[in-house]
Amino acid sequence: MIFETHAHYDDEAFDDDRDLLLSTMQENDIGWIVNVGASLKSTAASIRLAEKYPFVYAAAGVHPSETAELNEENFAQLRVHCLHEKVVAVGEIGLDYYWDEPDHEIQKLWFARQLELARAVNKPVIIHSRDAAKDTYDLLTAHRAEEIGGVIHCFSYSAEMAQAYVKMGFYIGVGGVVTFKNGKKLKEVVEAVPIDRILLETDSPYLAPEPNRGRRNSSLNIPYIAQQIAGIRGMSYEEVVSATQQNAARLYLSEKGRREGE
Ligand code: NI
Repeated sequence: MIFETHAHYDDEAFDDDRDLLLSTMQENDIGWIVNVGASLKSTAASIRLAEKYPFVYAAAGVHPSETAELNEENFAQLRVHCLHEKVVAVGEIGLDYYWDEPDHEIQKLWFARQLELARAVNKPVIIHSRDAAKDTYDLLTAHRAEEIGGVIHCFSYSAEMAQAYVKMGFYIGVGGVVTFKNGKKLKEVVEAVPIDRILLETDSPYLAPEPNRGRRNSSLNIPYIAQQIAGIRGMSYEEVVSATQQNAARLYLSEKGRREGE
């Protein structure tokens, strides 16, 4: 079955049919879903979904664009969330320089704090990095992220950069962009990195793959992504689903996976 490693079912885009949609996942071969927090509020909502559905897991973290909400008091609360038994990662955390706000120094400060939080709770990280290749890599290197492990979600940088992250013990998150006509760079990444380092993800409700580009995304679209990866690598669809499922289980569901970068 498919392991969906990145979705946001707490998003208001799913307010009308969230439970109906989630109840159809397993019959459609979606075996596991990580619902990723992007703020304190969505972290709490992700955990509620994980408590309700056995096949849903949560990630707890504050997205770089939301870091202005953080302070010592609610950071302590975030730490408590991270210790929840169904929280499998700290994320999504990172740097987003596409937007000027919050100030880059604030983003860097809370990225570093959340990296150290992941180390303290012994869980991998889910990294969001946009237009911030150098600072992200430098910060992860400075914090010895190879000891923490994780995934660069919605990977948007070069094949060389992807290989540097593989060397760091990280996984590469591949979603709908790989099906886009202008997704050439990501196709090169998929060709360049070992299959045992690729994770399937949607970022639902965003980034729906072709042929559903522009519509609301859901994990039910993952087969289009897996099919595309299979075509690029000359593998079968089943081999891609199986390899990426094992990768995700290694990273999120095994104790060993959390420290394999060491
Ligand atoms: Ni996301």
